[in-house]
Amino acid sequence: MPELAALSKRLRTVACQYLAPIAGPYVMLESEVSDGTTLPVATLGPLARPQHVGRARRTIVGAETLLGPGAGAIEKAGILLQKIANTLRFEEFWRDKVRDDPRVIVTPTFDKTIGKVPIWNAAINHLRRSGVDAGTVLEFGTNNGGWLKYFVDRLPSSMSFVGFDCFEGLPEAWDDLPAGSIKGYGAPVELWADDPAARRRIAEDAEQGIAFPPPPQKNVRIESGLFAESLSRYLQDGWPADLRLVHFDADLYISTRPVLDTLCGPLNYRYLILFDEFYSVNHEFRAWREFCSLYALKDWRVLATSADGSQVLIEVNTAAPWPGVNASE
Ligand SMILES: C[S@@+](CC[C@H](N)C(=O)[O-])C[C@H]1O[C@@H](n2cnc3c(N)ncnc32)[C@H](O)[C@@H]1O
Repeated sequence: MPELAALSKRLRTVACQYLAPIAGPYVMLESEVSDGTTLPVATLGPLARPQHVGRARRTIVGAETLLGPGAGAIEKAGILLQKIANTLRFEEFWRDKVRDDPRVIVTPTFDKTIGKVPIWNAAINHLRRSGVDAGTVLEFGTNNGGWLKYFVDRLPSSMSFVGFDCFEGLPEAWDDLPAGSIKGYGAPVELWADDPAARRRIAEDAEQGIAFPPPPQKNVRIESGLFAESLSRYLQDGWPADLRLVHFDADLYISTRPVLDTLCGPLNYRYLILFDEFYSVNHEFRAWREFCSLYALKDWRVLATSADGSQVLIEVNTAAPWPGVNASE
């Protein structure tokens, strides 16, 4: 291959001419060019440090004392600053979408006696009043299945429900909670709440690592695994054309934002979203804000919120119809 050898020689010359002033002296990897079949690769040889091109980065890495634990401390400070900025943005959200909108239902802040039932009921009532008697409800973060069971029992059996969870707890740390927290039983045992013996057996099996069976309700499906994989699997059949409600209860930004972007971004019909930890400003709130900005979504309103802003029920595309429902509102 004399042509290739000549070409590689030519490339070497050109590379020397143009790279030398930038990178300084360098050598070619002879083994790469010797047989004439591979392309020449320029190498500077081993470097003690990367040659950052940006001046700011060169200055930062000049502070040797920050290497190691320094980076972690800076990151913590950054997260705190982000929390402060997002808390201020949350205040703006509250003013514009809650305080200034007299239609918003404000339910009591979670406590052990009533739990989150008032805002859950607000979601169910809104669907019923809107004439929704079929369609799909999705939950991201199903855990023991308590929320799913409550909704399945109170919405028409003609609706279908899908619960997504890895059943291994939070995949990453959430503020002070380490990864792996909130694992629950490792199975959506509450779906079997009407059959205590089965519920107990499934909980015991989950502890032994035995997989749980399909739910007893015909209209409920569980998609196990990380959302990144289970949502892709779910969407292989196409986007739901009749989504009614999405419950986000996965706590983390990283578990919420990609689902919003992927699942909700393309939807242009009316549906509801219920966030369970909206006041977690660096997580669900941040995911929602960024999602709205990315998709330039302006037509949404808060239907109900808990007094502390943790559970927030949002109607999206309020000017659009509910697909397949005769307008009643
Ligand atoms: C607060 S719990 C959900 C509680 C549940 N809705 C209930 O009513 O009991 C959060 C759940 O989200 C799940 N989770 C968080 N991020 C996830 C991800 N990226 N993929 C799969 N599951 C995730 C965790 O495994 C955990 O079970």
